[in-house]
Amino acid sequence: MTQRQALICPSILSSDFARLADEVESVQLGGADFIHVDVMDGRFVPNLTFGAPIVRSLAAATDMWLDCHLMVDEPDHLLADFAEAGVATMSVHIEACRHLHRTIERIRSLGMRPGVAVNPHTSFATIEAILADCDFVNVMSVNPGFGGQSFLPSVLPKIEAIDRWRREHNPELKIQVDGGIKTTTIAAAYAAGVDWFVAGSAVFGQSDRRAAIEGLRAAL
Ligand code: DX5
Ligand code: ZN
Repeated sequence: MTQRQALICPSILSSDFARLADEVESVQLGGADFIHVDVMDGRFVPNLTFGAPIVRSLAAATDMWLDCHLMVDEPDHLLADFAEAGVATMSVHIEACRHLHRTIERIRSLGMRPGVAVNPHTSFATIEAILADCDFVNVMSVNPGFGGQSFLPSVLPKIEAIDRWRREHNPELKIQVDGGIKTTTIAAAYAAGVDWFVAGSAVFGQSDRRAAIEGLRAAL
């Protein structure tokens, strides 16, 4: 049995945006570890959400760790705004950044902890060279853009490969999984090596947020 600590990070994508502060408070009271904030540009992914002004307002309304997942093409020009808004951890997509190493370094220099996000089809070999520069990897287990999609088990071997890599090179690297995490899928992701579990619809889709989060932990 592994002793790895599992953190639950509800994604506000599936929350009621008109009541955002209350929604975040409800999952904080329900035992969430941190908050996942999905920023979409309508170009890298076929959907739009919100930008730094909303995140700034949210940061003023909560003391929770805000984890920003930027689904934005060439996002460098936005990074400073999100750092000032109060983002603690920031993942950018390898498929969206032409000079990924520079972008990761910029995230760190702005005081955020950098992560690389990877689409389901992107291989371990493609991300291996950037892992030493990252604090975490966000392994997408759905095609990014929407909440409520089904978990893709085909990403599990990639998570296992990242886990093997970190044992040898960087045990501090955290593995995040994002998409389709619910009571029926979380155990397989945990067994593969995941530390941080993003859950949108599985948490905000239930009125009892504590029961939803405890249900995920119990399914580990
Ligand atoms: C999808 C987003 C996810 C999304 C997950 O593009 O990156 O963070 O909120 O939602 P669920 O948990 O419903 O799959
Ligand atoms: Zn996300």
